[in-house]
Amino acid sequence: MRVPAALANAFDASFESLIGRFAAEKELVPSAESLRSHRFLARSVLPHVTKLSMLFNRRDPEKPHGHGRAAADLESGPSGLAPYWKESSNPENLRLAYFLSFMPPNLFRVAAVWSELGRLGFRWRPRGPLSAIEFGAGPATAACGIAAGERHAAVGLPAEATWALLEQDRAMLELGVDWAGAYFADQGFADWGTRPFHRKLSIEQGLLPRSAPRFQLWLMSFFLNELSQDPAVIARALLDSWERHLDDEGIAILIEPALKAESRKLLELRRELIAEAARRKLEWFKLLLPCLGHQACGALAATDDWCHEEVTWWRPPYLREIDKLAGLDRKTLPFSYLVVARSTRSREELLPALAGTTPGERQRLVSPAHFEGKEQEFFVCGEEGKRRARYRAHGEEDPAAELERGDVLLKPELRGDVNATRISRIEKRV
Ligand SMILES: C[S@@+](CC[C@H](N)C(=O)[O-])C[C@H]1O[C@@H](n2cnc3c(N)ncnc32)[C@H](O)[C@@H]1O
Repeated sequence: MRVPAALANAFDASFESLIGRFAAEKELVPSAESLRSHRFLARSVLPHVTKLSMLFNRRDPEKPHGHGRAAADLESGPSGLAPYWKESSNPENLRLAYFLSFMPPNLFRVAAVWSELGRLGFRWRPRGPLSAIEFGAGPATAACGIAAGERHAAVGLPAEATWALLEQDRAMLELGVDWAGAYFADQGFADWGTRPFHRKLSIEQGLLPRSAPRFQLWLMSFFLNELSQDPAVIARALLDSWERHLDDEGIAILIEPALKAESRKLLELRRELIAEAARRKLEWFKLLLPCLGHQACGALAATDDWCHEEVTWWRPPYLREIDKLAGLDRKTLPFSYLVVARSTRSREELLPALAGTTPGERQRLVSPAHFEGKEQEFFVCGEEGKRRARYRAHGEEDPAAELERGDVLLKPELRGDVNATRISRIEKRV
């Protein structure tokens, strides 16, 4: 996914200094300089980063698990993991490790998705102050991601906003309220505020009480995989809530891990959302991203395939240090995502970069492109599913000379079958 340079560069030493000062003020770390202390990171943060990393990764049955936690844990399924904040003998440091190490990458992922909407020409329509909600907010990660996205790739969000933050862990929620206050102000959104709701959300009981208001922006970041229900059940619950609580011209953003099991679950959710919305004849239901249409999923067509995006950023220096210590490399961040719009306007009106094309005339790169001689080879996905394709650029000036995962090809001329497609011409690369 192409991300504006200003956004990819926004998490440098200035971000480190902001989060360091904030953590010191809240007495989460001994001093604002703690993040520069190898000893502090190695002793107080690293063990908890390793633990969280294993917790998050072990959910994917495809992932090898060589060491550490007992096999019984692996079989407990997502519902058995939900209370992980309390699972620890040192929940404060576990929360701190999440805040320092997992929150910023997720914040960046959300900001990148927001910038993708902007890249495709999306503009904010609702009038009045923004009313937004984040589910399973943790430290208000996604709300802050929208602030970063809007700062560096604005789509026209208003200067005033209220963010409802829903979270089952009280201490995390309190941290989220404080962090959002500091981060919003830092990003230039001094009149964005939060309202905390400490509660355990339940799919069976409906995600929101019937009396809850409507929201224009609805976010779930790394939350759905914590629910154990089938995608069909989650799809019905989401549509029930969106019918009542997502405002006209509103947007819902769902971001999930790129791991095979969780990514496939999101793709199944997409399939169920489309089918259920059609059954209910919901004309406003529009899946916008990443697929630019309601076609059958190209990845789900195969039993062991899945689909994810990737974004690259400049990590804060302390995060590079944590990654070095933990043997992680989070310079490139993978994730899976869906963006839904509640609008009766066409997809081409919502995303003007697609104007003048029909769904069949758009292909999205769903893999990196690598060179085979002078040709680039990659996978694209479109209305007719996924295909392996090659393209030979017409000189260095060709905007498709260096394709990337996430690029959208408009009106490509395709020849050949799904295993070997040759693209002779691309009208436009977005
Ligand atoms: C992996 S964290 C993600 C936090 C944040 N959204 C982010 O992207 O960094 C998942 C969060 O969802 C919360 N959560 C999980 N199940 C929940 C439920 N049923 N009700 C409320 N919060 C829940 C957890 O406490 C945790 O803070």
